[in-house]
Amino acid sequence: MSSFNYRDGELYVEDVPLPLIASEHGTPTYVYSRAAIEKAYLDFDQAFRRHSHLVCYSVKANSNIAVLDILARLGSGFDIVSGGELQRVLRAGGDPAKVVFSGVGKARWELQMALDAGIACFNVESSDELDLLETTAHEMNRTAPVSIRVNPDVDAGTHPYIATGLRKNKFGVTNDEALVLYQRAHGSKNLQVVGIDCHIGSQITNLAPITEAVDKMLVLVDELGSQGIELQHIDLGGGLGVRYQDEEPINVDAYAGAILQMMGSRRQKLFFEPGRSIAANAGILLSRVQLLKRSPDRHFAIVDAAMNDLIRPALYQSWQGVSEVKLGEAAKRSWSVVGPVCESGDLLAQDRDLAIEAGDLIAIHSAGAYGFVMSSNYNSRGRAAEVLVTGDQHYCVRRRETIDDQLALESVLPPTVVAN
Ligand code: LLP
Repeated sequence: MSSFNYRDGELYVEDVPLPLIASEHGTPTYVYSRAAIEKAYLDFDQAFRRHSHLVCYSVKANSNIAVLDILARLGSGFDIVSGGELQRVLRAGGDPAKVVFSGVGKARWELQMALDAGIACFNVESSDELDLLETTAHEMNRTAPVSIRVNPDVDAGTHPYIATGLRKNKFGVTNDEALVLYQRAHGSKNLQVVGIDCHIGSQITNLAPITEAVDKMLVLVDELGSQGIELQHIDLGGGLGVRYQDEEPINVDAYAGAILQMMGSRRQKLFFEPGRSIAANAGILLSRVQLLKRSPDRHFAIVDAAMNDLIRPALYQSWQGVSEVKLGEAAKRSWSVVGPVCESGDLLAQDRDLAIEAGDLIAIHSAGAYGFVMSSNYNSRGRAAEVLVTGDQHYCVRRRETIDDQLALESVLPPTVVAN
């Protein structure tokens, strides 16, 4: 059963009515369901129960420490892409020994921090990065656990901004280059080869590119084995799509079935880095209609959430569901749901049939992943609050930003500095 349901004409998250959250925490506010996050994680984890594996939730999708804590309590590992994300995982009680570090541009201080923490693996994406990791580990008298991220040159069939597995993308290296890097790492006393990694994109709704990528990885795994380089794990990244509108997402059991079949008798532990499929449909963005504006061409519902809160529609032309929080008698009309930001791209949803009036609450769905984390202070708007619901309880897990929060980081020139 979904965590978002109407009861007596009011939209609830688990057992908490959204109007209650709006009155206590204001709007716009991100609201997450703990039960939905847990279910998505457990479904993924269970699907692979027949094979040794580790689900490393991809922190970038939703990095609130309350969300990380929920997952850490279930035994989740974490996929990070920065020192900041590592700090969040540690603060949330995550186990550093279950952390994998991805990304094309890890800085020296980030490598040092991760080596210090004792993470499970560095997913290395280039020859220069391997050099930097080796030098850094040598300086610290450590041995860095390493995977090489391969770029299988497959088309994930997703939005070009979130496709990562094509040769023209900045991610990973070819199988041929990977072989060379593995041989180098194998011969280094400060590097320990532990795995292989691949991530071909996000919001993937078709299994074929995934199995094509796995196929190419397994060729390399076997080749390495024949050269005496035995891998302990195979990291298949994240990427499973979710339903925003009418997509048919890949069923996680079908995904597991296909992958386990391809693994055959290979015994390497499987790592996964799902983000969106854990968090997207566990969250909504709660917003209030400020006013309605009718022009000859369009009907605009101007709401208090904007592109700075949820940039996905503006950046990827993505479709996010929108619904009324209170179902009333009013007739439905077609509305374009827009925010107050001074850009025509500040469009959250276009031409939606809604029965709304000024002052009404709306829910923007599927906003639990790549929502708050991509928000900004554009137009000097404070970032939204975040509330986590568990059963009939709700907790503010990040308070709304104030203008003082924004200004605290800035300063004017000292009065003694005169004009040039
Ligand atoms: N692993 C790596 C190396 C990644 O780059 C990503 C996502 C993931 C795992 C998690 O992928 P997921 O399971 O969430 O698809 N902001 C975009 C999505 C960017 C994804 C970036 N990498 C959006 O809102 O659609």
